[in-house]
Amino acid sequence: APDPAANLKQQAAIKAASLVQDGMAVGLGTGSTAFFVVAELGRRVREEGLKICAIPTSDATEAQAREEGIPLTTFAAHPELDITIDGADEIEPRTLNLVKGRGGALLREKIVASAAKQFVIVADSSKYVDHLGMLCPVPVEVIPFGWENVAVKLGRMGAHVTPRKHRDGSFYLTDEKNLIMDCVFGPIEDPHKLGTDIHSIVGVVEHGLFIEMATQAITAGPEGIRVITP
Ligand code: A5P
Repeated sequence: APDPAANLKQQAAIKAASLVQDGMAVGLGTGSTAFFVVAELGRRVREEGLKICAIPTSDATEAQAREEGIPLTTFAAHPELDITIDGADEIEPRTLNLVKGRGGALLREKIVASAAKQFVIVADSSKYVDHLGMLCPVPVEVIPFGWENVAVKLGRMGAHVTPRKHRDGSFYLTDEKNLIMDCVFGPIEDPHKLGTDIHSIVGVVEHGLFIEMATQAITAGPEGIRVITP
């Protein structure tokens, strides 16, 4: 089905891609909004001769970047990045704290975001929430061995826990071959504490709360484009 927000996502994406300059090492996000960032960077590489190299956050984004002709690099060559541009599932406008990972790429996304000097979020304005947890579950990436125990512990923290599955009932596996527990907490009062608590469970690899990481959000809505910093 056509995405009614595609045009807004593209507007935000083009604005964010304009922050990228010659010589930068760029982290490429995952999802339907980051898709437009990769497309625009590909256009600038081909038409403007923009000189960048990039690290993708998922196998899907890597395939798109290759098709677009964006030169790829590795953390071996570029252990630090200049900018990462990625989407989000929820954005708290005051803090730019985020929920990410509906697309399942949260682990690589968080690594690539944390490696960059600037972490820029692109979204349509429907992603704004008063409190994280209002719209989306918090995805938690878990090692397959013993996941049932991790699920019990997440439940004791107040979550309604659903292991992510494909339509055919098989477990969804991340690019790193882990499971995702989708955790509905409801509105989260203290996302920093919740993130720390989730991390303390043995077997948890990462979670989709991105706290005090984003340096800027570029969002598009019917009212136009907004650029906000925490
Ligand atoms: C991928 O794992 C997610 O974190 C995405 O960045 C997030 O789901 C945003 O995707 P959309 O831009 O498609 O909403």
